[in-house]
Amino acid sequence: MNLQGEVALVTGAARGIGLAAAEKLGALGAAVVLADRDLEGAEAGALAIEGAGGRAMALRMDVREPEDWEYALDNAAERYGGLHILVNNAGFDRPGGVQKVSLKDFREVLEVHLIACLLGMKAALPAFEEAGRGAVVNVASLYAKIGGQGEAAYTAAKAGIVGLTKAAARELARLQVRVNCVLPGLTDTPAIRGLMSEKVMNKLLAETPMRRMAQPHEIASVIAFLCTSEASFVTGAAWEVSGGWNM
Ligand SMILES: NC(=O)c1ccc[n+]([C@@H]2O[C@H](COP(=O)([O-])OP(=O)(O)OC[C@H]3O[C@@H](n4cnc5c(N)ncnc54)[C@H](O)[C@@H]3O)[C@@H](O)[C@H]2O)c1
Repeated sequence: MNLQGEVALVTGAARGIGLAAAEKLGALGAAVVLADRDLEGAEAGALAIEGAGGRAMALRMDVREPEDWEYALDNAAERYGGLHILVNNAGFDRPGGVQKVSLKDFREVLEVHLIACLLGMKAALPAFEEAGRGAVVNVASLYAKIGGQGEAAYTAAKAGIVGLTKAAARELARLQVRVNCVLPGLTDTPAIRGLMSEKVMNKLLAETPMRRMAQPHEIASVIAFLCTSEASFVTGAAWEVSGGWNM
């Protein structure tokens, strides 16, 4: 797999799956823009990629804000001359089932996951059109397929991402823009460590045939593959990376 000459933007790249994806894309030769609300974390990630011989820059952005997308695309154009790859990964969770979740939390979760994917694709399209190609990977979740207990907002947002991915894939194929999403299972990141009790985690691991969490680099490898020309005929896919959870 080779991404020499490509420019990639990864959101939520300060830590977890986003950081691993940025590192993998950088290692394959792409110039990487690491975008996050957490600028310090994104800067540390960019330094690590550069330390390993890659090209990277960090910027602060909130994926819910259209102006921040403009800022990010302007930076990618100025520094690296355009954009070919977009990884929509940033997000957070507000647990709660249908009865418990507040409307405010439900809206916030839809905004940071689903609406941000739409904003990202809208923002990136002119650059893709200019380049004559593009690849988008949206990070959904296995919950999009099976529903998360007490996760009404998150499940709805992630299922929405799968639908948006397929609609966008159909629409943008004529522009040589491929749009795919990944559906990770339980992955060992700060978010999961901070959010999930041991009891819930053990229950979910018992449902996972591989009996362990993914490491972020295992999700990043699939994201990276979908960005390369090795996946040149893959579009509209919802790729499970879940250790066999709910086959
Ligand atoms: N960890 C898992 O088990 C798992 C499973 C399935 C899907 N996912 C998805 O993978 C993605 C990454 O998850 P993670 O576990 O690495 O999470 P994480 O919390 O470790 O990292 C998320 C990053 O997103 C950033 N972020 C959050 N809101 C933002 C905003 N509005 N604008 C810009 N940046 C923002 C955070 O600052 C953080 O750096 C998320 O979309 C998550 O839903 C995670």
